[in-house]
Amino acid sequence: MWFDDAIDAALDQADREHRRRRIRPVAIPGPRLVLVDGRQLIDACSNDYLGLSQHPALKARAIEWVERFGAGARAARLVTGTLEAVSELEVRLAQFKQTEAALIFNAGYQANAAVLPALFELAGGRDALVFSDRLNHASLHAGCAAAGVRQIRFRHNDLAHLEELIAPHAGKPCFIVTESVFSMDGDRADTAALAAIARRHDAVLYLDEAHATGVLGPQGRGLAVAAPGAVVMGTLGKAFGAAGAYIAGSQALIDYLVNRCAGFIYSTAPAPAVCGAVDAALDLIPAMDGERALLMSRAARLRQRLAEFGINTLASSTQIVPAILGAEDKALAAQQRLEAAGVLAIAIRPPTVPEGLARLRFALSSAHSDADFEQLLDAIGVIGA
Ligand SMILES: Cc1ncc(COP(=O)(O)O)c(C=O)c1O
Repeated sequence: MWFDDAIDAALDQADREHRRRRIRPVAIPGPRLVLVDGRQLIDACSNDYLGLSQHPALKARAIEWVERFGAGARAARLVTGTLEAVSELEVRLAQFKQTEAALIFNAGYQANAAVLPALFELAGGRDALVFSDRLNHASLHAGCAAAGVRQIRFRHNDLAHLEELIAPHAGKPCFIVTESVFSMDGDRADTAALAAIARRHDAVLYLDEAHATGVLGPQGRGLAVAAPGAVVMGTLGKAFGAAGAYIAGSQALIDYLVNRCAGFIYSTAPAPAVCGAVDAALDLIPAMDGERALLMSRAARLRQRLAEFGINTLASSTQIVPAILGAEDKALAAQQRLEAAGVLAIAIRPPTVPEGLARLRFALSSAHSDADFEQLLDAIGVIGA
């Protein structure tokens, strides 16, 4: 049948291009460790930056909320109502992000894919003027695509280019869509400068804080604190150690999304266990300055170590450190050699990253022990071998 043949052809092509992706079964023998094919490896690829996914307080609160509220949320929030505890959690999230209000979603991908079209509706839907960083995450593209918008892309983190592109559209409603920490390059956007550009052009700034939340900014509040007035999206499955996402902004924005964002209206609410874990993470994160400092100093040491072997780490200045290897097969071979040395870091290939920039993406965690981290540094030599 044509359908099966087409699937086989697509998978064959992925194989030929060294781009085939496979799901690998793993077990979690302890914080920052993974058991892959019977071997215990140091996990240097997950986004569990503060190690909270294994924290006893998160596990205990998740269990407590299951006992109090049940295993599932039963329906969408507008149908079944919202647990008081979840409303309180949203107030706490808003306080953490220093905004008026917040709204929880099931996943970051869902939030970006669903919220952007709802916002663009306010400015002509498919005709909305949307200025996007070239390296934006797939979920941000999904939101633009769902709205039928043709994005106007500025060069990565090049705010002069953004200004140049936006200037001819003075007086028209515009959106600027970007990440505050880029998921694959580990560099930061200048959020204060972005906010100033948005103010000058009366544009809405939409900031994806997936990799900044919990890790950067005062008490881990992210980089959007330097961009008051932005619509802020962040995830709860990375540094927060649980799952889901939030949108933070004005009360009017949240009220609008409750009325017009289909991905919120027509989706079952997040499970109580997840919300309980997020609630516990919020107790811990503001006080984790020591962990955040450790993460940043380790990331700097890793970049230095990679540089000793002549490996480019782009403009990384965070816990995400890319090791650029160029071709897909080189990145895959490096992943295998590193794995043989006891470290799991995943080869990231196009189309996730631009052509010719296949890489290993290291994602560090404050939960790595000193010995884990030294083993990781020792293993770096095999990458370029
Ligand atoms: C920048 C960015 N935005 C959004 C997401 C999606 O978040 P989630 O994993 O919660 O769906 C990711 C996930 O990796 C991401 O890196």
